[in-house]
Amino acid sequence: MVRLVNVSKSFGSLRVLENVSLDIYRGQTTVIIGPSGTGKSVLLKHIVGLLLPDQGEVYFEHHRVDQLNQQQMVEVRKQIGFLFQMGALFDSLTVEANVAFPLIEHTTLNARQRAERVDRVLKMVGLAGLQSKMPGDLSGGQRKRVALARAIVLEPSLVLYDEPTTGLDPIRADVINELIIALSRKMGITSIAVTHDIASANKIADRMVLLYDGRIVCDGDPGSFARTDNPLVRRFIEGQADQDDLDRIREGFKGA
Ligand SMILES: Nc1ncnc2c1ncn2[C@@H]1O[C@H](COP(=O)(O)OP(=O)(O)OP(=O)(O)O)[C@@H](O)[C@H]1O
Ligand SMILES: [Mg+2]
Repeated sequence: MVRLVNVSKSFGSLRVLENVSLDIYRGQTTVIIGPSGTGKSVLLKHIVGLLLPDQGEVYFEHHRVDQLNQQQMVEVRKQIGFLFQMGALFDSLTVEANVAFPLIEHTTLNARQRAERVDRVLKMVGLAGLQSKMPGDLSGGQRKRVALARAIVLEPSLVLYDEPTTGLDPIRADVINELIIALSRKMGITSIAVTHDIASANKIADRMVLLYDGRIVCDGDPGSFARTDNPLVRRFIEGQADQDDLDRIREGFKGA
């Protein structure tokens, strides 16, 4: 469904993605894990054309995403839901207006039809009845779910989740996990999720991909990650700090 072929991306002298090739299969939930700053969000943004590669090719179905004109790009983006890392709700709009926003932009539905569609997706994420609330009056977990409702309101075939559970307590995080699983199983949505949350990754992933220093260093089902003796992978999934980082921190505290 998605194919990256030898994608490289730099910002100035910072090389973020190095020759990344990745195929994403329809119907699966693929989880991308990796340390902070390693290019996970940058990779997701390439799939929807928010960033263009310096080298390489990006495909969504039969579209060559990195070569589309603006009109074609709009058509592709309608088929892809994106749950941004920062949630990114419009704070001055109600929950209803936030979720209806893509419908106004991209469909000819009338107000009543839009309201029905908003009701339906809010119910799916467990927030029925919160239409008239403002984002500022919601908890972090509720805001994530509103953002998720907005990401799925156009009934996309692919949803990209950037850190869907970050900042949530384990119970609210698990609600999001269950939603991702339900969307995948019940609605046949293909998912790509980026996360630091290994428990979440283990729960939702059909496949895990470890991105490290701009390269894919491990790719397989969650069981293969649990069994691996690759020290890099072990350190990451067990949450151990890198010795160099520890040394740097100790150095920084010297004389404090
Ligand atoms: N638009 C941009 N312009 C310049 N540098 C950028 C831009 N987007 C990302 N970067 C840099 O690219 C690197 C990778 O960023 P990215 O956001 O993909 O990291 P990440 O793996 O998602 O990290 P985290 O887990 O903390 O979200 C970082 O060093 C970041 O500062
Ligand atoms: Mg990120």
